[in-house]
Amino acid sequence: MKALRIHAYGGPEVLQVDEVPMPRPAPGEALVKVAATSFNPADVALRAGAFAAVLPLTFPHTMGMDLAGTIVGDTGPEFATGDAVVAFLPPTMAGGAAEYVAVPVGLLAHAPTAVPLVEAAGLPSTGTTAWQALFEHGELTGRQRVLVNGAGSVVGGLAVQLAVAAGADVDGIAGPMSVERVRGYGAARVLDYTEKAVSDIEPGSYDLAVNFAPTPVAELAPLVRTRGRLVSATTDIETADTRISTIRMAAHPSRKVLKELVTAVDAGRLRLHVTGVRPLEDAPLVHVDRERGKTLLCP
Ligand SMILES: NC(=O)c1ccc[n+]([C@@H]2O[C@H](COP(=O)([O-])OP(=O)(O)OC[C@H]3O[C@@H](n4cnc5c(N)ncnc54)[C@H](OP(=O)(O)O)[C@@H]3O)[C@@H](O)[C@H]2O)c1
Repeated sequence: MKALRIHAYGGPEVLQVDEVPMPRPAPGEALVKVAATSFNPADVALRAGAFAAVLPLTFPHTMGMDLAGTIVGDTGPEFATGDAVVAFLPPTMAGGAAEYVAVPVGLLAHAPTAVPLVEAAGLPSTGTTAWQALFEHGELTGRQRVLVNGAGSVVGGLAVQLAVAAGADVDGIAGPMSVERVRGYGAARVLDYTEKAVSDIEPGSYDLAVNFAPTPVAELAPLVRTRGRLVSATTDIETADTRISTIRMAAHPSRKVLKELVTAVDAGRLRLHVTGVRPLEDAPLVHVDRERGKTLLCP
């Protein structure tokens, strides 16, 4: 079978499609026939070795933190052959960029039925990041004022929709190509970052700010009210603003969160922004020419 692997850290050229043996599921694992994985910005850092100190890879490493596919074979009480499933795979584990992958059953959730299975591969890691930023680290409950910086990104767009669905009053910061889409997700106000600076926003406006863009934490902190929260999935905290709680987050797989995301997609509360479906062989190009929106990779 085919697998998109790297044998060493390096540039896009280290991504190669290899012929490899079929994985053999260990006890507690299910064999999944892959419909798609997705490209994430973190794949670039993983491939280049930028995360090697915290997330060391064992080579050869199969890429792909996201997975959508169908169960093959006997897997116990929860999943039957042919069930459509999704998973967020820990980055150091053999990933979903292959024809088949053996996955711990505890990471799997039934896939949404409201979207094609291939598109569902755009949900696990991005949706989990958005959910954990808002509800786990951001402690969002109900009618709070929320700022989503990087609302035009895939994760940011999901965060806007999840926060709106939770009853929050949500503002977004996005580029001109994304402003209308973010409004369509229910954001009350969308600031175009090419026209206005973050510093133009009234200080202390938000109970919670979540950051999915390269904006320094120090620029966003003044926008949060005293005792509010700022969660950054991107930039590090250099000098903490002691008025607020500031969290630098790293998303982690959670089946409970994944199930909530699937429910939200099926209920029409969460739309995915898929813009490309490409073969695994295109991965080196996808790593270089990054499209706006989610690119899926299919074996
Ligand atoms: N810490 C974690 O656990 C974690 C997990 C997942 C993702 N992330 C990070 O979160 C970020 C978003 O991920 P993603 O997968 O959603 O990436 P993505 O869709 O590729 O995000 C790119 C988008 O970010 C927006 N952007 C760029 N510069 C901006 C700025 N200065 N202000 C506002 N928006 C800006 C642009 O949107 P527009 O110009 O169209 O508005 C661009 O299309 C990435 O940096 C990723 O590495 C972190």
